[in-house]
Amino acid sequence: MNQPRPAQILDSLATAVLGFDERLQLEWMNPAAEELFAVGLRQGRDRAFETLFPERTDLVQRAREVLAQPRVVSEREIWLQRPGDGGRLVDVTFSPLPLEGDRLGLLVEATLSDRRSRIAQEGRRIEEQRALRRVVRGLAHEVKNPLGGLRGAAQLLAAHLPDPALAEYTEVMEHEVDRLLKLLESLQGPRRARQLAPLNIHQVLERVRRLVGAEAPEGVAILRDYDPSLPEITGDFDQLVQVFLNLAQNAVQAVAGQGGGRVVLRTRVERNYTIEGNRHPLALRVDVADNGPGIPEAEQSQIFYPLVTSRAEGRGLGLSIAQDLVTAHGGVIDLQSRPGETVFQVTLPLAPPAEGETNEHGAPGL
Ligand SMILES: Nc1ncnc2c1ncn2[C@@H]1O[C@H](COP(=O)(O)OP(=O)(O)O)[C@@H](O)[C@H]1O
Ligand SMILES: [Mg+2]
Repeated sequence: MNQPRPAQILDSLATAVLGFDERLQLEWMNPAAEELFAVGLRQGRDRAFETLFPERTDLVQRAREVLAQPRVVSEREIWLQRPGDGGRLVDVTFSPLPLEGDRLGLLVEATLSDRRSRIAQEGRRIEEQRALRRVVRGLAHEVKNPLGGLRGAAQLLAAHLPDPALAEYTEVMEHEVDRLLKLLESLQGPRRARQLAPLNIHQVLERVRRLVGAEAPEGVAILRDYDPSLPEITGDFDQLVQVFLNLAQNAVQAVAGQGGGRVVLRTRVERNYTIEGNRHPLALRVDVADNGPGIPEAEQSQIFYPLVTSRAEGRGLGLSIAQDLVTAHGGVIDLQSRPGETVFQVTLPLAPPAEGETNEHGAPGL
């Protein structure tokens, strides 16, 4: 049987593979690497390792460590700048590469991170939801004005009724108009401007835990799993309470009525997290997890839209408002769900973007 030569195997690999000598100068790369690192390394001049990831000088240090105490090192989700196409998120592995004459070089393997497609989808989803929120807010605003007129007219009518027994009808009108106005106000979402301050996310979560704990049915445990090393973030305390309250209430509702219902509030540090194309060296992740029945795959993309609910008494606004507030903080909400385990994952950068950069919060009118 004809064995393929190692060089042929390398050429056929989908994984980008690059070989550097002991001075971290490029010796060779396979076609997949040529495609991935399209610029920079191909020319004869720029063949130093540090031109691979110009933003990440720490990786040069990592590469040197691999050579100094031969070992294998992996790094996930590194942003690879590519002029013209916005860049790629890659996972890389550095391994020691024995060369002739007892020298030790560096082997670099790079693959596209599987997070990339998820991030792209997320961007689309956020865009769609933002557009929908805008429509809903605009509509709510338009409908509120004539309702105010109706309400005033019903009151006038009530004052001039010839038969007091007819007041029953004007009361129904006022009551129903008020109900509609309330609904429209909640559809408009939070209207006050953000009040940003440094805060400890655990204080936010403790507030939430007390609030949901007080109303959780018997048999539902609300547990915490906090990483105490989490840095402070800048955010709006009350808005973040609202976010995690909405998520935790849903979780409690999901496990209520089953035995051994559990809701966990979990915090973690995330490194090199990309949100809407912006890379954050450090971000904070809060999971709201429950062991309820889960959310069917087909419904997962819809539950974030306003008015989508599966509960008879539900308004379908909790997730939409949470999503709105998290986006205003520059963060994202992810969802993983299967029967017995549902996790809403909120990732927040250490500081939110400047007002107006991500959405229209606090804008007058809508
Ligand atoms: N943890 C969860 N487990 C199962 N289903 C959930 C969970 N969180 C949200 N959902 C689903 O998403 C829907 C929308 O949630 P939400 O926007 O808070 O509105 P509401 O709570 O008023 O129904 C819920 O009706 C429910 O079907
Ligand atoms: Mg809810």
